[in-house]
Amino acid sequence: MNPSDNPDLIFLDRNEYSYEIAPLIEQTIRSFSPKEFTTYTRCFQQGIKSELSRYLGALYNVPETDVILGYGGEDILKSVIHCFLSLGHQQRKILIPAYSWWYYKSIAEEVDGQTLMYPLYEDGYDFKYDIPEMKRLLREEKPDMLLLASPNNPTGNSLQPAEIKYILSAVDEHTIVIIDEAYTLFNQSDISYIAPLIARYPNTIIIRTFSKFYGLPGLRLGFAFMGKSLQPFLKFSTKYLGYNKLSEKIGIAALQSTEFYLEKAALMRQDKALYQQELNPLDGFKVYNSDANFVLIKYPIALKEKLQKAFADKRIVVKFMNEDGLRTHLRITLGTPDINKQVIEVLKSTHLNS
Ligand SMILES: Cc1ncc(COP(=O)(O)O)c(C=O)c1O
Repeated sequence: MNPSDNPDLIFLDRNEYSYEIAPLIEQTIRSFSPKEFTTYTRCFQQGIKSELSRYLGALYNVPETDVILGYGGEDILKSVIHCFLSLGHQQRKILIPAYSWWYYKSIAEEVDGQTLMYPLYEDGYDFKYDIPEMKRLLREEKPDMLLLASPNNPTGNSLQPAEIKYILSAVDEHTIVIIDEAYTLFNQSDISYIAPLIARYPNTIIIRTFSKFYGLPGLRLGFAFMGKSLQPFLKFSTKYLGYNKLSEKIGIAALQSTEFYLEKAALMRQDKALYQQELNPLDGFKVYNSDANFVLIKYPIALKEKLQKAFADKRIVVKFMNEDGLRTHLRITLGTPDINKQVIEVLKSTHLNS
């Protein structure tokens, strides 16, 4: 459905952003001179790929050569998976989380890659990766790639830097590790582990985006930091003549507005707590802990049709999950505090009237 056909629908099924834009981003767009489009971003003489990758390199303490830019995290994910799963003649394997973004499997299949899955399990209100089982699969299946999503979509769980290091220490140096951190920064702001991690484990690439924490999915801008063993990917992914100048400036303005977005993340944390406080006491409901901008909720399946109708009446779109193991779950993006209250009310009143 095209949102422009339904301007009054509230989309909480796409993990988009509902708060204001940082003032610096608005100023940057207004003061941008179209004259800047008359030259390329790349500066050959200085050996600089682009203004944004230079900025990101300095911010994350990673050489600019190892910073990758893309048309959203999706673009970098697709190109790195295509690059490494299509090498050689044999079918190659990627290991991904059992519950995860559908896109991983789909892009692996585009190059005939085989997808294997490692399990997650429930521990109280958390989902967790089954790390011993992941290690067994790494040992026995010897996959060419391993994907860790932190935080994971749709389960909302994430890995601490120490857990990432523990996993990487068990990975064969020939296995390329992708860490999809699209939903990072909502619950922790540490970026200092990235540079030492890719230096110690050069078979690793960490992918981030401006779409979630920085609330700019329509900008289509993602970035990544890659270890030195991914050199074949460098050629594959390089935007030879640089990137889009306006997007780059907006990206830098977003990074400079991190404090602004941390305040929004704090508001989201309050509302995640509200979801748990209001819904966890209800029979058959369970709101999982989430480190992202959405909550995953288990609900009594008998309520499915009533809930679908109640949300449709309110013109709110949420995601009714429909995959093995998660068929009685809803994934709901955090909206503004007012909208979140409306959603909680829909769930509570449907439960009350059942
Ligand atoms: C887990 C995950 N990774 C990456 C992305 C990519 O986002 P983008 O291409 O907007 O950067 C998404 C988008 O929803 C996602 O859910």
